Amino acid sequence: AAEVTRRLFELIRAVPDFPQSGVTFRDITPLLADADGFAHCIDLLAEPWRDAGVQVVCGIESRGFIFGAALADRLRSGFVPLRKPGKLPPPVVSAQYQLEYGSDALEMRADAPHDGERVLIVDDVLATGGTLAAARSLVEKAGMHPVGAGVLIELGALPGRARWGGGLPLHALLRY
Ligand code: PRP
Ligand code: HPA
Repeated sequence: AAEVTRRLFELIRAVPDFPQSGVTFRDITPLLADADGFAHCIDLLAEPWRDAGVQVVCGIESRGFIFGAALADRLRSGFVPLRKPGKLPPPVVSAQYQLEYGSDALEMRADAPHDGERVLIVDDVLATGGTLAAARSLVEKAGMHPVGAGVLIELGALPGRARWGGGLPLHALLRY
């Protein structure tokens, strides 16, 4: 497993000063393009949730769709997209979250029959944690039951994990 993890780190490209000066961007596209890398990544993301009774994976637009959909297939669960505002037709439920400047929101179908269903929230990167926290409140607003979150990358220098809180498991494959 350590060997596989090392390979996954190799497949993520560090891009200095993108999208702005001082930020090191973790580019996952080389990992996605590698057949074994991507397959191992989905294997490892699925592992902690094998017996969690996940009924629905909620993936966050847009990179969370890639991992979330593959994971839903692997766990044989449904997939529900959490989208940026204005993309889904009504009715929707939405949850706002703060960005460094201003705010953004996530939206989800409000009319789907998911009452009480067990939901795994999936994204590629956990940074400040604002996105994942909004996803969780959205899932709760919609009457679903979050069982936890899975991300590929956790940027440990940022307060993402603290923002998620201790009440529900948050599994990250790779930590920087
Ligand atoms: C990135 C990333 C996460 C979020 C993490 O998405 O994919 O969703 O930021 O940041 P946070 O923990 O500080 O909230 P981005 O908005 O760049 O969208 P994309 O997936 O469409 O590229
Ligand atoms: N890399 C990729 N996506 C991100 C990052 C990053 O460093 N921070 C927030 N989203």
